[in-house]
Amino acid sequence: MHNGPCAAALSTAGHRSLAEGSAERAGSAHERRAGRSGARPCPVGADLGAELADLRLPRRDGVLVVVPGDVEPAAWRWAVGVGAEEVLSARDDRARLVDLLGACSDGSNEAPLVCVTGGCGGAGASVFAAALAYAGRAGGLSSALVDADPWGGGIDLLVGGEDLPGLCWDDLAATSGRVNATSLRELLPVVDDVAVLSWGRSAAASVVPVTPESMRAVLTAARRGHRLVVADVPRREDDAVLAALAVATSTVLVVPAEVRAVTAARARVGVLRRATAVLSVVVRTVRGSGLDADDVADTLGLPLVAAMRAERGLAGWLDQGLGPRRRARGPLATAAASTLAALVPARDGSTR
Ligand SMILES: Nc1ncnc2c1ncn2[C@@H]1O[C@H](COP(=O)(O)OP(=O)(O)OP(=O)(O)O)[C@@H](O)[C@H]1O
Ligand SMILES: [Mg+2]
Repeated sequence: MHNGPCAAALSTAGHRSLAEGSAERAGSAHERRAGRSGARPCPVGADLGAELADLRLPRRDGVLVVVPGDVEPAAWRWAVGVGAEEVLSARDDRARLVDLLGACSDGSNEAPLVCVTGGCGGAGASVFAAALAYAGRAGGLSSALVDADPWGGGIDLLVGGEDLPGLCWDDLAATSGRVNATSLRELLPVVDDVAVLSWGRSAAASVVPVTPESMRAVLTAARRGHRLVVADVPRREDDAVLAALAVATSTVLVVPAEVRAVTAARARVGVLRRATAVLSVVVRTVRGSGLDADDVADTLGLPLVAAMRAERGLAGWLDQGLGPRRRARGPLATAAASTLAALVPARDGSTR
């Protein structure tokens, strides 16, 4: 069971942390010289204002000076010196700053988010989501596995991490606004090098409602703190699930190659197409079935990213809490690796 710390620790409630964050974003004045182009918001901590003003950089749009408390006349002098459009107080203008800092994200500093969902009950979506996160880790990406299915029994159990302390959705469900990426990364339980966000398991707990805002905020923080985020998404679309699908860089539908499974999956394709940007299918081939992976993909009208045979022994591994990653070259790991290669553009491969 998780012993999650207070969610408040994650919000950027203190003006000190906001001011520090903006100074970090501003980097050194020399770095800023190299990067001064484009019109995304560029918050400058008051501590760097004088240094930047001295550099007499070419003007750019979107520069803001951020001071921790009262806006003193000195701040306006720096603001004029650096061509800032606004001077904001981290104490008094918090909502506006949160918006602006969010807008600083241009995608390049947010990891890919892959949502995984099943075409029918028991398709193997949760298992595949976990396998995808571990494939990312094996490829050198710091990975987070987010359980977005409150009815799934807990992905922590699936990967064998249910006894580890750390944050869970119970701590985060009420969050709105920005979630601090570094804190989230540091507070999530880590199972074999993959950060896992799952559900609490207290005796009194039923399903903790997650709002779309908290789903978005948590996924954004996870993407800022990792190089790959995989979300296990249920087959019923509530607003939080739709929020996750809407921000996904791609979504994978896992479908067993069986007539009933494909029929059930077909009913989901329309909804998923409307809800998410890039949709493809991973097929679990079934011994004795007359359908192969191409038949399934053609019937669904979706691109096939991988096909996999049943992973022998998997049910036993899961029951023993060993997780799905026992065989590095098995059908599951191989399909996850090729799905990752197809959906997630290679970057420098470094670990962070
Ligand atoms: N690749 C696989 N090879 C063999 N068996 C598998 C595979 N994936 C899943 N299974 C079996 O199917 C079961 C259900 O898998 P999983 O929980 O991932 O399905 P799901 O699609 O997430 O189901 P739900 O509809 O409940 O969310 C597993 O417990 C395991 O026994
Ligand atoms: Mg599941």
